[in-house]
Amino acid sequence: MQIYKVGGAVRDRLLGRPVTDIDWVVVGATTEEMLAKGFRPVGADFPVFLHPKSGEEYALARTERKSGRGYGGFTFHASPEVTLEEDLIRRDLTINAMAEDDQQNLTDPYHGQRDLEARLLRHVSPAFAEDPLRVLRVARFAARYAGLGFTVAPETLALMRQLSESGELEALTAERSWKEIARALMEDQPQMFIQVLRECGALKVLMPEVDALFGVPQPEAHHPEIDTGVHTLSVLEQAAQHKQPLTVRWACLLHDLGKGLTPEEEWPRHIAHEQKGLKLIKAVNERFKAPKDCQELALLVGEYHTHGHRALELKPSTLLELLQSFDVYRRPQRFEEFIAACEMDARGRKGLEQRSYPQADYLRGAATTARSVAVQPLLEKGFKGPELGEAIKRERLKALKAYKEKA
Ligand code: CTP
Repeated sequence: MQIYKVGGAVRDRLLGRPVTDIDWVVVGATTEEMLAKGFRPVGADFPVFLHPKSGEEYALARTERKSGRGYGGFTFHASPEVTLEEDLIRRDLTINAMAEDDQQNLTDPYHGQRDLEARLLRHVSPAFAEDPLRVLRVARFAARYAGLGFTVAPETLALMRQLSESGELEALTAERSWKEIARALMEDQPQMFIQVLRECGALKVLMPEVDALFGVPQPEAHHPEIDTGVHTLSVLEQAAQHKQPLTVRWACLLHDLGKGLTPEEEWPRHIAHEQKGLKLIKAVNERFKAPKDCQELALLVGEYHTHGHRALELKPSTLLELLQSFDVYRRPQRFEEFIAACEMDARGRKGLEQRSYPQADYLRGAATTARSVAVQPLLEKGFKGPELGEAIKRERLKALKAYKEKA
């Protein structure tokens, strides 16, 4: 049997990027031979094994034939006769379809190295269409490598468009899609992920609520970029530049969905878009089964981001309600993430990227103030049950009034 390093490990070494995990392909071996060498099978019908020591993935060279719709519809053909070239041709991108032996000799039948130099994300063959998840993968690679100058080859974008229009994307499971979305949002330029999905028509299928924001105007005084879709991309860009966590990036992407529902005659104003957007945010959250912390923050940011921007003008009672909604007493981190998302929203506007955001410190100070109200003296005064709750609230309100006057 011959063993080759394949995929991302080869690509990233040639790009001079750190290699995190290594995938191997094994040519000329049978399942029985792999098991005899102590490799552990990953799944019953899947010709992939884990190395007994390193735990790295070793896949038998295989060809794939599509037998049905979606990811379930695969049959695998792995046999010792399948050649390296036959295995590589069914992979997604030319830059992912290179192999390397233990002497670092490169096998590159589909010109991955040439495309690396040309900075092109190009599909290897029509077999690309066998797995619709690849539409998301290409967009994710665009988000990762945009800084190096990579773009999607026009013929690949055309194929992605065909796949998007064919209805194939709808067969993707929430779990597979979310994994790609989450990884893509954490790349250096997550806005490229959304942009590429939009260019190939996949955004309309996956997140029509986000797609609908393009072409929707906002008041120029607050939004020099005007377009709500363009604004959303900028907010995401800011979130990446400020190294925000996934929760914040997800909330940034969804914060303005309500603006897509405004009747045209009300444009460019978007009255109550925060409330109107909640059902859309919920739908997107559930469609991809986003983790609970992402879902929660997206809904809270959707509902309260305008409160964040108006923090310094809020009445102490409104400020208190905001703090209560976030349960800042038990969930301080979540409130920090809300503040971060608001700040990214404020900076994700044309020409305003460097603006200061005094609301952030003001909100932090308010949370600290409310939190510092001591419960013990109220207990000592004999307050109990709901009355205690009311008394704490009154004290917090008093503290916030003083805080606002001093600010
Ligand atoms: N691959 C593919 N189609 C997919 C998934 C994977 O063709 N839907 C192939 C590609 O050749 C890819 C390799 O399998 O390079 C390994 O896949 P994976 O580990 O998912 O991705 P990497 O390319 O290693 O990229 P990353 O750095 O994002 O892990």
